[in-house]
Amino acid sequence: MTDLFSPLTLGGVTFRNRIGVSPMCQYCAGEDGLPTDWHLAHLVSRAVCGPGMVMTEAAAISPEGRISAHDLGIWSEAHVGPHARLAAAIAHAGSVPAIQLAHAGRKASRLPAWDSGPAVPGWEALAPSPLAFGHYAVPRAMTEAEVAQVIADMVAAARRAVRAGYRLIEVHAAHGYLLHQFLSPLSNRRKDSWGGDFEGRTRLLREAVAAVRAALPAGVALGVRISHTDWVEGGWTTEESVELSRRLRALGVDVVDVSSGGLDPAQRIPLGPGYQVPGAAAVRAGAGLPVMAVGLITEPAQAQAILAEGKADMVLLARAFLRDPYWVLNAAVALGRTEALSVPPQYERGWGSLGKMSIARPVGAPMPALPG
Ligand SMILES: Cc1cc2nc3c(=O)[nH]c(=O)nc-3n(C[C@H](O)[C@H](O)[C@H](O)COP(=O)(O)O)c2cc1C
Repeated sequence: MTDLFSPLTLGGVTFRNRIGVSPMCQYCAGEDGLPTDWHLAHLVSRAVCGPGMVMTEAAAISPEGRISAHDLGIWSEAHVGPHARLAAAIAHAGSVPAIQLAHAGRKASRLPAWDSGPAVPGWEALAPSPLAFGHYAVPRAMTEAEVAQVIADMVAAARRAVRAGYRLIEVHAAHGYLLHQFLSPLSNRRKDSWGGDFEGRTRLLREAVAAVRAALPAGVALGVRISHTDWVEGGWTTEESVELSRRLRALGVDVVDVSSGGLDPAQRIPLGPGYQVPGAAAVRAGAGLPVMAVGLITEPAQAQAILAEGKADMVLLARAFLRDPYWVLNAAVALGRTEALSVPPQYERGWGSLGKMSIARPVGAPMPALPG
């Protein structure tokens, strides 16, 4: 029976347990996309509570691929140093530092979520086809050269991420952003070899993943986040996700992170506890590769059951970690697993009385060597 607190190895990277912090946009980078002190505080304050992995929010591979002007980026050499500070601090707290690489496509050029205003003037959004997302501006269809540039930008961003010290690189192909826009027949009406049938619509993601894999050294894991379904009649389906994941596995992807939706405002999502877990289980069973499950996983027993029932290899939580940065420690206590606790020595007086503790690497201990 797979245990929430048992280690997991993916692509040569070992996670201390099977709980991860899901990527969450903070919309507080500078206009240059550089991480700020907020990113450091936000990510590290989750890492010290013991998750196996902490993933950054979507980091844009090019300036025009940002959702908003305040998205995190990784499109230039100037980004490597500040990202290295984030990755080192997460690793120092004992979590695997992970980064999500993204291009927003037709969902680019927005004001930050909490402003919910119109598009940023003068910023043209790109997409497979000139089809708007809901009330957003109509994007411009990408030329073939622009499609090929996305692959080059993704590879360059992945190389920078490795140099910064991230150990898991996740390609964002979910939630209606550019790569998902290519996958879905609702947003991709191209007549060239980047559209049309399943082969054509999946070509950009497959080629991007193959190129990124070839650029990664041993000891860095590769993941892909997908929306397993659009939740819209005539859209991308779970069956296609299973077939795509088979292909991704053959291309050297170590894990598929299974989310859903975000492509079309007409979606009808059956929201409820663990509502995306059946999609994760279908991909895991059908494609035979490790998966992460995400979406309204909030309770320790629920998370444990998902793993024990073989529906996923790891669980990711987002909003639960905003409510409780110490979710992992509280889950260990709730499940009577305090021997599995991992806390920094600075916090031992807060948590040490609860039972036997495994203490994370002491402050000042040497960092493990970084690949690349
Ligand atoms: C504030 C916030 C920002 C998010 N930003 C991202 C993101 O950058 N990339 C992504 O793939 N998902 C993003 N998500 C989705 C989460 O990663 C997660 O898939 C979703 O919230 C469902 O998990 P939950 O029910 O545990 O919150 C975001 C969610 C929240 C709440």
